[in-house]
Amino acid sequence: MDVSSHDVLLVGGGGAGLRAAIAVAELNPKLSVAVVSKVYPMRSHTVSAEGGAAAVIKPGDSLEDHAYDTISGGDWLSDQDAVEAFVKEAPEEMLRLEHWGCPWSREPDGHIAVRPFGGMKKERTWFAADKTGFHMLHALFQTSLKYGAITRYDEWFVSRLLEDDGRVQGAVAIDLMSGKIQAITAKAVILCTGGCGRVFPFTTNANIKNGDGMALAYRAGGPLKDMEFVQYHPTGLPFTGILITEAARAEGGFLLNKDGYRYLQDYDLGKPQPKPVLRSMELGPRDRLSQAFVKEQEKGRTIEGPYGSVVHLDLRHLGEKVINTKLPFVRELCLKYENIDPVKELIPVRPVVHYMMGGVHTDINGATPLRGLFAAGEVACVSINGANRLGSNSLTELLVFGARAGRSAAAFALEPPTPNGRVLAQAEDEKRRLEEQFLRKTGGRESIATLREEMQKTMEKSAGIYRTGAWLAEAAATLRRLQERFRDVAMSDHSRTFNTELTAALELSFMLDVAEAIVQSALNRTESRGSHQRTDFPKRDDGQFLAHSLVFHKKDGTPQVQYLPVTITRWPPAERVYGK
Ligand code: FUM
Repeated sequence: MDVSSHDVLLVGGGGAGLRAAIAVAELNPKLSVAVVSKVYPMRSHTVSAEGGAAAVIKPGDSLEDHAYDTISGGDWLSDQDAVEAFVKEAPEEMLRLEHWGCPWSREPDGHIAVRPFGGMKKERTWFAADKTGFHMLHALFQTSLKYGAITRYDEWFVSRLLEDDGRVQGAVAIDLMSGKIQAITAKAVILCTGGCGRVFPFTTNANIKNGDGMALAYRAGGPLKDMEFVQYHPTGLPFTGILITEAARAEGGFLLNKDGYRYLQDYDLGKPQPKPVLRSMELGPRDRLSQAFVKEQEKGRTIEGPYGSVVHLDLRHLGEKVINTKLPFVRELCLKYENIDPVKELIPVRPVVHYMMGGVHTDINGATPLRGLFAAGEVACVSINGANRLGSNSLTELLVFGARAGRSAAAFALEPPTPNGRVLAQAEDEKRRLEEQFLRKTGGRESIATLREEMQKTMEKSAGIYRTGAWLAEAAATLRRLQERFRDVAMSDHSRTFNTELTAALELSFMLDVAEAIVQSALNRTESRGSHQRTDFPKRDDGQFLAHSLVFHKKDGTPQVQYLPVTITRWPPAERVYGK
């Protein structure tokens, strides 16, 4: 078996992965850095981010305000030390990105332009029109090219972490073009593989977001934190799930029900305003807006379309000039995917799974409880987002905590080596597993597509915007059965070159583990907080649940939940108030 060795191994080549790789290379140019990504880095999901990235920049705003908005938006489940570090380092990171070539949109006088965003009391969302993720990723990618110490493994798929002497020391990866299975050893490993929206059927997430890194850490013994908190974004296009950015509402878009009524005024989110204003009801936090949609649907006031119930997003009053300059991508997406021109027509939208607040448990420097393993970006839970992330905090998060994880992994890589004699044997075991269970397997009866669809439907039914204990318990049993059935999965493609059936099978097995972690954490949390709304336990219960869920993968493969207190520094728990 081929083996390559590096000092630091990055799994994932999106925003967090590239920021972390640059941080390692900048801190210590002697360290060799590997970036392994199952797609070419510019195809990572960061590229699709639209609305912007939050950081304090304008007079009248403050780090305290950004921290408070984030903590109250997260329904007090955020770790406040992490939030304080985040808001402090956010502006520096954003300016650094500008120096690396990110073309932030400007005001006429040349200053950085910012827009309001959901749940933020001040305007602090920097943007590059409505293609912010594309420009950020481009700036990071071109900067990473400067560093000779960074070696890329584009289109390589990581199937397992390698660990010896209590320390993660590399991974096994498949070169998708040739099918070669190889060990990549390293002194430190950073997971930056993004989230797991594809566990659900209707999501803004690209097909590549399958919870790979979450499952890799979980299987290796690292706990997943706050997995029950799944964010629905209120405005996705029906059928495709393509995101219509919150920036459309920041620029003044309205949400209308079937009677053309701005229904959000009925949900404690404020009064209708004629123009976009800070804290207007259309810019309430995402959990509340998605919950309001369900209530509106229950009242029979949504519009029935071919792909389920929708409400309308109205941008017509903004005019063609504003739409073309501030929201060109929104217009392009509506024209291409709905055959609708938002300059003249209403856009059908409905809530769509968008983001995981939970992820691999890390400390404030990206270190997981497994020595040598770090994580950053959506795959990780630091946690700044608590029970509900505010729009535009995640792009900044991947910069701040990507850089932090890179720096701490670089320091860790200099620690004396530990024995790694068992690592190559583990890699051989993994190669055998991949060949026997997938590449040479004959006679299985279960289809990957059927199992995936059943998992996704189960998740939508039980772990959606509203949940009950009974639905979640039923989902836990269904997912167990799907895990059993997965053992009998049929593999018809035994070729090596770009074997997409193999990657689909591995991704499904990762997603099944992650789905179980979500459902078990949701079942155990008998309260309602942020995006986790239990109709059988409708109140927030700080007495019992001002705590993070930590879910561990037991030897028999089932999830086990424990709790960890939330870190409170300056902002004691209070009621979340909007629209006042
Ligand atoms: O609506 C949006 O542009 C999404 C932004 C985010 O999730 O941060």
